[in-house]
Amino acid sequence: MTLRPLNPADIEEGLQRLNEIAQVIVSLLGEVSPRRREHSERVANLAAQFAESARLLEETGPYRLYLAGLLHDVGHIASPPMEEAADPAKDETRLRRHPVAAVQALSKFQGFAPLLPAVRHHHERFDGTGYPDRKAGEAIPLEARILRLVDCWDGLAAGPGSLERGAALARLRELAGGELDPGLVEPFVRFLESGEPPAGDFLARKEASLIRQSFAGILQKFSSGKLVPPAMPQVVFELRNVIKRQDSSVKDLADVLEKDPVLSLRLIAVARSPIYKGYGEVKSVQAAIPRLGFKETLSIVVAIANKSLYEARHPLHRVLMDKLWVHALASAYAAKLVAQSLLLEDPEGIFLMGLTHDVGKVVLLRAFADLPESATVSPETILSAIQDAHQSVGVMLVKRWGFGEEFARGIALHEKDELTADTHPAILAVHLANRLTRRMGYSFFDPGAEEPAAIVSARLLGVSSEVLEKVEARVREIVRDVAHLF
Ligand SMILES: [Fe+2]
Ligand SMILES: [Fe+2]
Ligand SMILES: [Fe+2]
Repeated sequence: MTLRPLNPADIEEGLQRLNEIAQVIVSLLGEVSPRRREHSERVANLAAQFAESARLLEETGPYRLYLAGLLHDVGHIASPPMEEAADPAKDETRLRRHPVAAVQALSKFQGFAPLLPAVRHHHERFDGTGYPDRKAGEAIPLEARILRLVDCWDGLAAGPGSLERGAALARLRELAGGELDPGLVEPFVRFLESGEPPAGDFLARKEASLIRQSFAGILQKFSSGKLVPPAMPQVVFELRNVIKRQDSSVKDLADVLEKDPVLSLRLIAVARSPIYKGYGEVKSVQAAIPRLGFKETLSIVVAIANKSLYEARHPLHRVLMDKLWVHALASAYAAKLVAQSLLLEDPEGIFLMGLTHDVGKVVLLRAFADLPESATVSPETILSAIQDAHQSVGVMLVKRWGFGEEFARGIALHEKDELTADTHPAILAVHLANRLTRRMGYSFFDPGAEEPAAIVSARLLGVSSEVLEKVEARVREIVRDVAHLF
């Protein structure tokens, strides 16, 4: 029986699991001795960053070294806490057992097997006088030699009674060839002097760079056409044609809609909701259209059709998508209500612009959710990466969907404050809607204490506080009563 070669993605995922377990173990160690825990974390971070920056280990090597660093002293769990003075005569043997004790415990979990040599040998000395196996020189695994070096540095520079930096560096150099691998000491000193933040959190930096790379990859694929963006549902285009024709009847519209049963059912559900209250029960698309009105029907169908873009498998991504959806829908209605109250042209077009202003976020999140590493990245990291790129992706997408220049400008400008009286009113309405919904809490951003009438787009449009209050109240009703029906 031969083993299937491992997929690098499986390995990354495995490392995440190992990290979780290692964190549990090191936090137990911290219960016995907070100082040992802090020491372990410093050694783990510094060793991994040094190994990465000096390119000492291949691929996932620095990550594995980080884990070994976290665990290297867990065998001390039964030793007297570092905070208590040890009795050298009595405790020496017990203290020296800690690498072997750690290996014995950790070997009970298969996944830790690759870390064990580093843990077992982190007290071997380069000259062969260390423990537990009195190994010497390069017979000591490289990971263990790195840990010995960083462990030693931590004792000199960060431990109790630590030396000032210059003296610590001098002492470290003296240990080269005796306790420490002389081939590592100078590169390590250079690394320390290089100004890289040695105290930084290795995993956080790893996560940030992982997500930067992923998003750069997505953007690249997207602009070179290798990543096929989601289609704007066909029904949206068909409907716009039906409504543009002056002589269209309820039946024409119903004929288009009834081709899509899911869409029809949702439309009926929206028409029956309390905010569109009226006489008689709505049981068919033909009855729903007059209840909603021709144009409102268009808006709702467009929104229902768009909702399919907001699907996600992973629960974390689903939570993010749901929030994006509520933000999009609330922005669409807010923009349309503002447009209607100011008698702007084409409120339905403005609705669609409000609905799609953040579509770049949806596309990015969807593409990111398909990457294997995505499930392990925190929502904050995902959101800030998405935020940076979403306008340009949105613009590319709506252009591909065949929307005009003005529409694309609306997507590009929705978060910019450099608006003027010449800016198209539709763009101003969407800008305002985005800010109003943020204020109302339908957003990932802090609502802040913004006075709505003072928002630049509100001033340029000349919307009064009273109108804005009414818009907000209506949008709240819509989100409460119908957002989940789409
Ligand atoms: Fe140790
Ligand atoms: Fe945005
Ligand atoms: Fe937005």
